[in-house]
Amino acid sequence: MIQRKILLGVSGGIASYKSAELVRLLTKAGHEVQVVMTRSATEFVGPVTFQALTGREVFVEMWDKQRGDSMAHISLTRWADLFLVAPATANFLAKLANGIADDLLSTLAAARECPLLVAPAMNKQMWANPANLRNIEQLKVDGVTILGPAAGVQACGEVGEGRMLEPEEIALHVEAAFQPKLLAGKKVLITAGPTFERIDAVRGVTNPSSGKMGYAIARAAWEAGAAVTLVSGPVSLEPPPGCRRIDVLSAQDMLNAVNAEVDEADFFISVAAVADYYVLNQSEQKIKKDAHILTLELAPNPDILANVTARPNPPFCVGFAAESENLLEYAEAKRRRKQLPLLAANLVQTAIGADDNEITLLDDAGQHRLPRAGKLELARKLVAHAARLYLQKKN
Ligand code: C5P
Repeated sequence: MIQRKILLGVSGGIASYKSAELVRLLTKAGHEVQVVMTRSATEFVGPVTFQALTGREVFVEMWDKQRGDSMAHISLTRWADLFLVAPATANFLAKLANGIADDLLSTLAAARECPLLVAPAMNKQMWANPANLRNIEQLKVDGVTILGPAAGVQACGEVGEGRMLEPEEIALHVEAAFQPKLLAGKKVLITAGPTFERIDAVRGVTNPSSGKMGYAIARAAWEAGAAVTLVSGPVSLEPPPGCRRIDVLSAQDMLNAVNAEVDEADFFISVAAVADYYVLNQSEQKIKKDAHILTLELAPNPDILANVTARPNPPFCVGFAAESENLLEYAEAKRRRKQLPLLAANLVQTAIGADDNEITLLDDAGQHRLPRAGKLELARKLVAHAARLYLQKKN
């Protein structure tokens, strides 16, 4: 994880109490955080809170006598790799959209060189106010990234759009802002997790797949600027923000969902641990337990990836191979059989359920070993590799 310098502006909304948690998440991820508050934000949360969490003095005033050069606004923006304002009030956004710089935070925003992300937080009527919506449109044109807002119950008791995104989600956007946009404008279809093949109304056959690798790849593709559709078997994971998730159960459901989506896709990344067989003699009702041996008849499932590569104009396809022995030999044979430009090979013993993994990428140029690392880090490398090969193929 690369450590970055983040300038966090906190303006005066009730959501500013959540910024303390946001600081904690950002510092936990290894980043250095410098907080600047507006005067009204200090009415909600004391600067000491942020000072304790960041280990850095919090700035509020423009005319800070402690800084000899009186140029805090310039030096702080030059220091930062990224400028985040959370919460961003209607007032702050209005000033930003109009170039008004009448306090330290708005002056910093005007003097910035680094990317600026804002997380609006306000009452639903204030959000829907035509002047605010005009300002938001202007800010998008000006290259400011608008995070959210979310809809839901507001601090004032009303329900509607205007809530600040949760700190966890803002932190994901911050990490995404540091990733190169290698897949901007591209559509990526990903399968993830296991499939579940019914035996009867309650029982089934499945694979022990956590979905972590597929979800990490979905996040990495989203971070790289792609529109991501995630066709997911049953897992207990939250999809990354901005990813559309289609839930499926069986391999046949997964195939149907992939067929419905694949025409649109520039990339198809098949990470799912699809069950190779389904139960032929399925029972509608729960099979009653007795002393007899129960025999299941298993019939082969369709190969989803092979279905996609067999299409007339397939997207750029990436497959996975999980093997328990002879990894590279079996994986390369699979890559050739499935006619894949790229395949990620991993050992069952190291891959399943774990938070980290070890992968070898196989393509026409040979083997590329990605040493043991977190699944997100590996996913980012895999996405970058796929994007490079895709470009080479196009040119
Ligand atoms: O041949 P094998 O099943 O080991 O190939 C693994 C690759 O094929 C993975 O990318 C997996 O997602 C995909 N697959 C598939 N449909 C199946 C079985 C595997 O798409 N029925």
